[in-house]
Amino acid sequence: MGVVQCLFNCFSPSDQAFVTLATNDSYARGAMVLGKSLRNHNTSKKLVALIGPQMSDACQSVLKRIYDEVRMVDVLDSGDTAHLAMMKRPDLGVTFTKLHCWTLTHYSKCVFMDADTLVLSNIDELFDREELSAAPDPGWPDCFNSGVFVFRPSMETYGKLLQYCTEHGSFDGGDQGVLNGFFSDWATADISKHLPFIYNLSSIAIYTYLPAFKQYGGNAKVVHFLGKTKPWSYTFDTKSKQIAGSVHEASTHPTFLLEWWTLYSSAVVPMLQEIYGDQPFHSGCVAVNCLDGSLSSLAQALQPQMSSEERKEKWEQGQADYMGMDSFDNIKRKLDTFLK
Ligand code: UDP
Ligand code: GLC
Ligand code: MN
Repeated sequence: MGVVQCLFNCFSPSDQAFVTLATNDSYARGAMVLGKSLRNHNTSKKLVALIGPQMSDACQSVLKRIYDEVRMVDVLDSGDTAHLAMMKRPDLGVTFTKLHCWTLTHYSKCVFMDADTLVLSNIDELFDREELSAAPDPGWPDCFNSGVFVFRPSMETYGKLLQYCTEHGSFDGGDQGVLNGFFSDWATADISKHLPFIYNLSSIAIYTYLPAFKQYGGNAKVVHFLGKTKPWSYTFDTKSKQIAGSVHEASTHPTFLLEWWTLYSSAVVPMLQEIYGDQPFHSGCVAVNCLDGSLSSLAQALQPQMSSEERKEKWEQGQADYMGMDSFDNIKRKLDTFLK
């Protein structure tokens, strides 16, 4: 390592940080895996987790072992049920809490990452970008997705954001609507603020443009498990090293999901086990002997339930489960049974 390189690495600015948010124990698991994935890829930046008062002491302890700073914040909720209903995500009002990240003024620059993201390689180069840099949202690419963005903490900006919320609210009921309203020239003003999609690869895009995913997906640096079903909604079989159940849910790519679970079960669960001691806790891992015929029924019981109504809606939104339930083979089998 050259002297200049060493100076750079050894004194890499400690006033820069990756920041995430977890208001409860479920999202805390996401934050644990995200933090671990950043560490595994040797980030030189600080790691900060904003947490809500609902979070258990056990999860807080684990987060403190992974993150440099774990900061309790007030939960801000848009309470905007009408707009949230349009997204079919009534739970996302609390994402207003994300805005607290602008109060971290002991850092000069930060990268916010949703707790449902996973880092696949070192992404410290994101700190070369300016506020507000983000990748396009796959649903409306003239909006940025607020799952990964570069920002500069500032009490002034924080105040203006809160004021914006009061005066205009959010067109989607969550933080993404507010942020796109506030940083409204993102789509047109400065292309350097458009992060490549590989820094926020929403799993939804895999199915909406499969050939592009096949072409470019290997370059992904961050995967975002956007949507209602999160990695921790599944169950992992530690014996077969597989996700229990047929995990061909439209919004998730099995390989990324497996990567999440591998990291979670190998690096996070042991920490949780240590903290919980003899107390029972639900890690989401099971160890089932694959030769045991009960696996498939167990797996079925464990897989996230989707009603036929929900499935129909997914079809209508162009999110058919092409690789699984709605695969060509399955449809053909179904037609064959009808025809017989
Ligand atoms: N979040 C949280 N608690 C919640 C809901 C959301 O802490 O109850 C945080 C978490 O960091 C999460 C982010 O807000 O990743 C955005 O929510 P989510 O990822 O579920 O939205 P999506 O990306 O699916 O639209
Ligand atoms: C989006 C983003 C998420 C945000 C939510 C609510 O889909 O992925 O980060 O919290 O919308 O605005
Ligand atoms: Mn997300």
